[in-house]
Amino acid sequence: MAIRKIITTADEALLRRKSKPVTVFDKSLKILASDMIDTMNRENGVGLAAPQVGILKRVIVCMQGDKTMTIVNPVIVEQSGSVADIEGCLSIPGKRGTVERPSFVKVVGQDINGKKIEISAKDFDARVLCHEIDHLDGILYIDRAEKIEDI
Ligand code: CO
Repeated sequence: MAIRKIITTADEALLRRKSKPVTVFDKSLKILASDMIDTMNRENGVGLAAPQVGILKRVIVCMQGDKTMTIVNPVIVEQSGSVADIEGCLSIPGKRGTVERPSFVKVVGQDINGKKIEISAKDFDARVLCHEIDHLDGILYIDRAEKIEDI
C-alpha cells in the first residue's frame, strides 16, 4: 500500500496542465493505478486523476457503484441529459459547489493492461467520470460550478 501526496490548488499550475495519453502499459503504470486507489480510499474519495498525484498521464481511478475502476485514456463518446448536484474535490479541500453535468455518459478507454473498455454510467456515477476526466484536461469543478461554498 502506498499513499501519494495529493496536489491541491496550492500547486494550481500543475493541476491546470493537460495530461498525456498513456502508450506503455507497464509495471510502473500498474503501481501508479494501485497507489491512486490506495490514496483515494485513504481520503474517502470517489475518484482520483493522475495529475492530482502529480503525474501528467491520462489515468483515472473511481468508484462506479461499489466497484473500483481504473480507466486509462478515457474519452466521453456519448452524453445526454443534464443534472445539477453538489461536488467536491480532494485537490480543493474545504469547499464544495453545485455543478451541472450530463445525467448519462458513455466512456471508452483502456484497462490497466491496455484492453479496450466501455462504460455506461448515469447520475452520480456519470458525474464522477466527468469530474475525473476533466482533471486530465486541467479543468476543475470550480470552473463549472454555479456556486461554491465553504464546508
Ligand atoms: Co477532483
